[in-house]
Amino acid sequence: MNIELINKNISDIDSEILVEFLAPNDLAEHEYSQTLESAGFKAEQDSTCFLYEKRILFCGVEKKKNDEIRSAVACMIKVLKTSNYKSAKISVASNSSLTGLVEGIVLGGYEFNNYKSEPKEMTLKEISLAANELDFDELQTTFNEALIVANATCFTRDIVNNAPQEVNPQTMVALAMKLANDNSLECNILHEEGLAKENMGAMLAVGRASVHGSALIHLAYKPANPKKVISLIGKGLTYDSGGLSLKPATSMVTMKMDKAGACAVLGMIKAASELKLDVEIHAFVGAVENMISGDAYKPDDVLVSRSGTTIEVRNTDAEGRLVLADVLSYAQDTVKADYIFDFATLTGACMVALGQYTTGLMGHSHKLKHDMSKAGTASGELISSLPFNKHLKKLLKSEIADISNVASKPFGGAITAGMFLDKFIKEENKNRWMHFDIAGSAYTESPWDCNVYGGTGAGVRLMSHFLKTI
Ligand code: BES
Ligand code: ZN
Ligand code: ZN
Repeated sequence: MNIELINKNISDIDSEILVEFLAPNDLAEHEYSQTLESAGFKAEQDSTCFLYEKRILFCGVEKKKNDEIRSAVACMIKVLKTSNYKSAKISVASNSSLTGLVEGIVLGGYEFNNYKSEPKEMTLKEISLAANELDFDELQTTFNEALIVANATCFTRDIVNNAPQEVNPQTMVALAMKLANDNSLECNILHEEGLAKENMGAMLAVGRASVHGSALIHLAYKPANPKKVISLIGKGLTYDSGGLSLKPATSMVTMKMDKAGACAVLGMIKAASELKLDVEIHAFVGAVENMISGDAYKPDDVLVSRSGTTIEVRNTDAEGRLVLADVLSYAQDTVKADYIFDFATLTGACMVALGQYTTGLMGHSHKLKHDMSKAGTASGELISSLPFNKHLKKLLKSEIADISNVASKPFGGAITAGMFLDKFIKEENKNRWMHFDIAGSAYTESPWDCNVYGGTGAGVRLMSHFLKTI
């Protein structure tokens, strides 16, 4: 499906279907008000009404703002997909709502068909966006940027959705190398020997039972005169069986998504390089598979992490933090960054705390949290802060090592996981670091907003917005 921004009035564009957004207030004055009323259409958010004879598809929106448009367009595209029309046209109401329009079409229209032997071909081929009398140059820039970010989000979704027999730590290396090649990024890979040389005892222990060797992937986008340097760290558990603290069967299903943090940071560096942002970006991915075998790491093991901090393993299912401990340590010693952000499907507890739609944000800097919330609002991604405190920190105490990999009490699990990571953040970086728990927001089994079944690409839109503002 092709989306095109056209410098014409909507009435001068030839398309089979006209898509029109209506807010409840618009109904009374509309030329089809009676027909719409008879059809029971109240212009409620995400409702649609197809007047086939008139070839108009009406979409209800609470208001004509980005968030509402994005969600309505995602519903609209689902309706059009089930029809046999080939083309549709939409009026761009304002530059500010164009991003929502593009995201709704691309992200709401996204399908993952890699494993369908007979994927249904979409009849809809062309969506034209009419610029009308608006500033076309301004629209064109917004349009191009929105497409880059939406496509990077789909890139992230694709990797997340691929089955775990296909994406393992080594194939993840291959696809990162391909991205580096396609986007002219620097690329450095540490395989198991390299990880051993770096003393990454925590990360290596998690991957030991897997037949696929663990790997640390480092990609870098280096523009000429960067304003800032950012390190992005992603949890890349290509599968999380729980290890010897094995997950129950029903909880294990969907654990291919435990690589979503890694996929997100790959999507972010892809977007940043294509947007040609003047920030230097380093993406670090810990690609590991958490399995069982005679050689598996065990509850009761004590691991020596890269930083020298010893970790008592009390639960092998709390593996993401072990991988991140070593990758965070490596990232801090390799790159002097202005900001250090890690993205991880780290805890089920984050979903309990915030629901499955919201990313949990943790860190020490109030300013950074504030700036990030603004990027959340602007991008339409839901993020919310989970506060650290000294009482929860004590729950990570170990009797025999420097820290335990799980808290001694079951409450506040997302925060204690964040505080575990904090142990591996150097003093000078405390205010530069933020942890994003995307356990809920990265994957969905029922559609919401512009998300469809599977990976959502959480983090990509958010970070693209944030990077544009610094
Ligand atoms: N990958 C999981 C977290 C997760 C759970 C992500 C559900 C997405 C959906 C993580 O490795 C894990 O298993 N965490 C444990 C931590 C516990 C053992 C302290 C959890 O959340 O139960
Ligand atoms: Zn786990
Ligand atoms: Zn995990």
